[in-house]
Amino acid sequence: MDQNTLKKSAAEYACANFIHDNMKLGLGTGSTVTFLVDALGKRIKEENLNITTVSTSSRTKRQAESLGIKVVDLNDIDELDLTIDGADQISPDYQGIKGGGAAHTLEKIVATASKRNLWIVDESKIAEPFGSFPLPVEVLDKAQNQLMLKFEQKELNPQLRLNENGKPVRTHFGNLIVDLHLGQIQNPHELGAYLKSQVGVVEHGLFLDTVNTVIVGREEGRNCIDN
Ligand code: A5P
Repeated sequence: MDQNTLKKSAAEYACANFIHDNMKLGLGTGSTVTFLVDALGKRIKEENLNITTVSTSSRTKRQAESLGIKVVDLNDIDELDLTIDGADQISPDYQGIKGGGAAHTLEKIVATASKRNLWIVDESKIAEPFGSFPLPVEVLDKAQNQLMLKFEQKELNPQLRLNENGKPVRTHFGNLIVDLHLGQIQNPHELGAYLKSQVGVVEHGLFLDTVNTVIVGREEGRNCIDN
């Protein structure tokens, strides 16, 4: 089975089993979430469901609206019942790295506003060592050079993320992404606290103690884990 089949299987399972009528739902970003949004659009139409969503990127918002899914601004909602999102890497104790699609700041804001968080992934995301996926850090333009110097001194192997045209990638908020090529993260809480304390860092991609349930699409079938 290819990766997309596994992603689709996790997404469709989440849509069928975790989404209920009258829910306020956060929608993540990425290729796995694309399958979820497709399935959600179908369910809303077929079952005439009343679901209000908040989106974590303009990509997801565009797709959801094109399928007739109601999308509102997070500032118009006090709390979400559930957010369903993808992830770039998940540790054996369910800590996550996100931001491979540069959307982690908005994803974290939406995740924090949710009573529960569910991640949908294919099995390649449950990989070790945790930190082998480069850790994205969103930074303000004016702080980029200073932060890169600091990260280099700390041997965090920073690299400014560039697009296919060699230009810096910009986030939803117009900021830059610095990826930390760490190989392994020994203490995610310590690293998260350090990054959070640096002036000019908008948000890092460590999602610590966030997820309640993970659905993993596997070759041998799906796997639903409660954290
Ligand atoms: C977006 O910035 C990320 O946090 C995504 O959630 C993550 O990259 C998952 O993407 P895929 O579903 O495409 O693997």
